[in-house]
Amino acid sequence: MLSPALILLSLFSGVALCKLYDNVADLPGLKYDFVIVGGGTAGNVVANRLTENPKIAVLVLEAGLSNEGVTSSQVPFLLNQLIPDSTYSWNYTTVPMPGLNGRSMPYFRAFFLGGCSAHNGMVYTRGAADDFNRYATLTGDKGWSWDRILPYFLKSEKWSPPADHHDTRGQFNPKVHGTKGPISVSLNGFPWSTFEQKVIQTTKELPHEFPFNLDMNSGQPLGVSWLQSTIGGGERSTSATGYLAPKFIRRPNLHVLLHAQVSKLVNATHKAGKPAFGGVQFRYGNSLFVAHASKEIILSAGPVGSPQILLNSGIGAHSTLSALGIPPVLDLPSVGKNASDHPSLFIMQWEVNSNETFASITGNATRFAQGLAQWNTSRTGPFVDSGVGTHIGFSRLPKHSSAFAVHADPSPGPGAPHLEMTFTPGGFGAVGANLMTIDIAVVSPVSRGSVTINSNDPFAPPLIDPGYLSSEFDVIALREGVAQAKQFVSAPVWSGYLGAMTTDIAGLSDLELETLIRSSTGSSFHLVGTAGMSARGARYGVVDPDLQVKGISGLSVIDASVVPIVPAAHTAAVTYAFAERGADLLKQRWSC
Ligand SMILES: Cc1cc2nc3c(=O)[nH]c(=O)nc-3n(C[C@H](O)[C@H](O)[C@H](O)COP(=O)(O)OP(=O)(O)OC[C@H]3O[C@@H](n4cnc5c(N)ncnc54)[C@H](O)[C@@H]3O)c2cc1C
Ligand SMILES: *[C@@H]1O[C@H](CO)[C@@H](O)[C@H](O)[C@H]1NC(C)=O
Ligand SMILES: *[C@@H]1O[C@H](CO)[C@@H](O)[C@H](O)[C@H]1NC(C)=O
Ligand SMILES: *[C@@H]1O[C@H](CO)[C@@H](O)[C@H](O)[C@H]1NC(C)=O
Ligand SMILES: *[C@@H]1O[C@H](CO)[C@@H](O)[C@H](O)[C@H]1NC(C)=O
Ligand SMILES: *[C@@H]1O[C@H](CO)[C@@H](O)[C@H](O)[C@H]1NC(C)=O
Ligand SMILES: *[C@@H]1O[C@H](CO)[C@@H](O)[C@H](O)[C@H]1NC(C)=O
Repeated sequence: MLSPALILLSLFSGVALCKLYDNVADLPGLKYDFVIVGGGTAGNVVANRLTENPKIAVLVLEAGLSNEGVTSSQVPFLLNQLIPDSTYSWNYTTVPMPGLNGRSMPYFRAFFLGGCSAHNGMVYTRGAADDFNRYATLTGDKGWSWDRILPYFLKSEKWSPPADHHDTRGQFNPKVHGTKGPISVSLNGFPWSTFEQKVIQTTKELPHEFPFNLDMNSGQPLGVSWLQSTIGGGERSTSATGYLAPKFIRRPNLHVLLHAQVSKLVNATHKAGKPAFGGVQFRYGNSLFVAHASKEIILSAGPVGSPQILLNSGIGAHSTLSALGIPPVLDLPSVGKNASDHPSLFIMQWEVNSNETFASITGNATRFAQGLAQWNTSRTGPFVDSGVGTHIGFSRLPKHSSAFAVHADPSPGPGAPHLEMTFTPGGFGAVGANLMTIDIAVVSPVSRGSVTINSNDPFAPPLIDPGYLSSEFDVIALREGVAQAKQFVSAPVWSGYLGAMTTDIAGLSDLELETLIRSSTGSSFHLVGTAGMSARGARYGVVDPDLQVKGISGLSVIDASVVPIVPAAHTAAVTYAFAERGADLLKQRWSC
């Protein structure tokens, strides 16, 4: 039997061949089985999987612009132009953070189709098996354990040859990768051979401290591995290019509306003895509209947008809502709390005695133009890679670290790292200077932050507090990271290659180093946890292990916000895997 929404659709079939709508007036109607808020990393996964069933009608409401023709999103090496480009950004700034000496900073979130997958660093990391086994324990649902989530990682992934088709044997483990999914993943496709050889040689000279790891995405990330990125054929792969590829977006039961900013959930009712919402209010141009979902509303607005919409809708801490005059629907104090993210430190940067660095391109307008032209004609050359680096290393703090006197070990198990190092034949500094960088991030942070609102205007920007370095543990961990980076470059292979550090840290006391860390730490933009899952019946948490909002009927959150604790990984791959399972949970619930 056709659903009413589909009957409506069939009346209008043939009106528009492309189901990506720029104008609300062109939508055939506003009644659907499912309404998904946010066409980002997770939202497009859910939209794709639900519409595999032609009887299910799905509307995606995306606030931002189209990703079509955004060259800086397509060309991996243009990353540094894309991220600060305010056209494709929500233009958020964090609140001042005491842990960073009162600094606030830009907090980038993408404002176009594909969400952050379309403007992130493309680093493809899954985290440690221990991360997922902890999620399973925390939620009482074995479905979130590593063994049960791994198939979802593989389902979303299409392992692809690097753009230069070099011999990749010994650089990854094919057994842990998927080959049929929508998201392309590959090794770098342009060599920085001198630097790469030195990193690999370090794993031989210091094998105890920095062992080589064939593939950091096996669930056992400790060691140094070759970088993997969400890139295929020299182009960035995103949830928009993958999950909304032409063959999917053409489905008559899938509609995506751009420029539609959701304010809140409306048409409150009761279903099965619980509060429920029949509609989603959004702004298009200067007018408000309501889209209706007969089955379920899914928030996929990301770890900033989803808690904001919950709060705007009266779901959150009673005290916060009443103070703003927002009628409370459900007292759910964890909404927006428990935000966790990776603090990142870029001070470990050296001048190098080599011109085989990114500066050879970024510091010479002629070579930059040649590189872009080469990408344009053949999808080869230096522009096929993100410029993030060549390798990633994951390590643990020493057992005797003073960090453990401040806080019990926050890592989920012995196979999970505390620190991540990214090795890069380039850096930030004088244009044209030949540099190398070891970026250090704490991937087991103790600090927690929040996302909240301070206005009853649903379109006012939320307050974002990643809470960086609010725990001394994270500061000590970064200090240990500095020591580990120094140890890395103490391997004999670096002598004669390394020049001076661009920030002189020689002879700093622990206290002076701490001050430098607090004044220079930045963000990794890996925010999670703001609509975190917890066990059914737990006294905290926002969603149950099936991703439905606790105490509400017909409302799920499926995006990075449900991940309860930040994994030891850049968070896009995890978001894809969670969204794949989230879509399966919806299909089971609605037998569709
Ligand atoms: C600068 C940056 C670099 C990063 N680098 C990496 C990396 O290299 N590797 C990695 O794995 N991860 C990286 N990440 C993190 C990763 O990209 C994110 O964790 C992940 O993409 C989050 O997915 P999501 O679906 O939760 O949210 P998003 O992808 O942000 O999707 C949310 C979508 O909802 C839309 N939206 C929000 N509010 C509303 C509203 N009210 N109405 C309608 N639509 C709305 C947004 O416009 C967006 O399209 C990076 C993130 C950033 C910002
Ligand atoms: C961010 O700022 C730019 C430039 O002012 C603007 O074009 C864009 O629409 C802004 N984004 C949002 C979400 O307001
Ligand atoms: C749904 O809510 C909107 C906005 O509050 C309101 O205009 C509309 O009348 C409501 N529709 C129904 C069917 O209650
Ligand atoms: C944050 O999460 C932890 C579990 O990781 C939980 O114990 C705590 O209650 C949560 N806090 C809030 C405010 O939700
Ligand atoms: C690098 O240096 C070598 C030798 O000094 C020189 O021949 C070459 O042109 C330089 N390459 C670049 C990219 O500057
Ligand atoms: C810039 O690159 C071009 C092309 O390789 C080269 O001819 C020129 O000498 C370079 N300029 C500088 C200042 O290195
Ligand atoms: C790529 O080439 C096409 C024509 O072949 C041109 O129109 C376009 O501007 C080029 N893009 C870039 C980024 O160089």
